[in-house]
Amino acid sequence: MKKVGIPENLSTLFEAAREARTRAYSPYSEHKVGAAVRTRDGKIFSGCNVENSSYGATVCAERVAIQKAVSELGSIDIQEIMVVTDANPPWPPCGMCRQVIAEFGVNSIIYAVNLEGQLKSSRFSELLPDAFTPAHLAPGSGAR
Ligand code: THU
Repeated sequence: MKKVGIPENLSTLFEAAREARTRAYSPYSEHKVGAAVRTRDGKIFSGCNVENSSYGATVCAERVAIQKAVSELGSIDIQEIMVVTDANPPWPPCGMCRQVIAEFGVNSIIYAVNLEGQLKSSRFSELLPDAFTPAHLAPGSGAR
């Protein structure tokens, strides 16, 4: 795990995720998570985790950020997505978030970062190999 601080090219993404994290609604787990996505055309959207008393209706910070972006722009191409926690090691996206990233960011880079500046960078394909993606449903894909 690198502990070199946040590189300059990621500072805007980090600041967006760190700031969103301050608004986490997490009275049940008490874990605050912030996320930010950068689209291929350079737009940044952030989100925080939003928990629910049913527990199951909780939405992770990554999905909030992605859904905000899609609701503003329509379909997006995610270049990078960052998750900021106070955890050591920093938390990577959960499985459900990985599936949502598969929809909009098969070529994305995912950064798991904590407030101490530890950063783990992974390609999406490393986090969810052999992902089920929109390509499987595309005409001519062999799907029936
Ligand atoms: N959480 C996220 O926001 N992102 C993740 O990838 C992992 C988990 C949230 C969900 C819940 O509010 C809390 O962290 C504990 O699981």
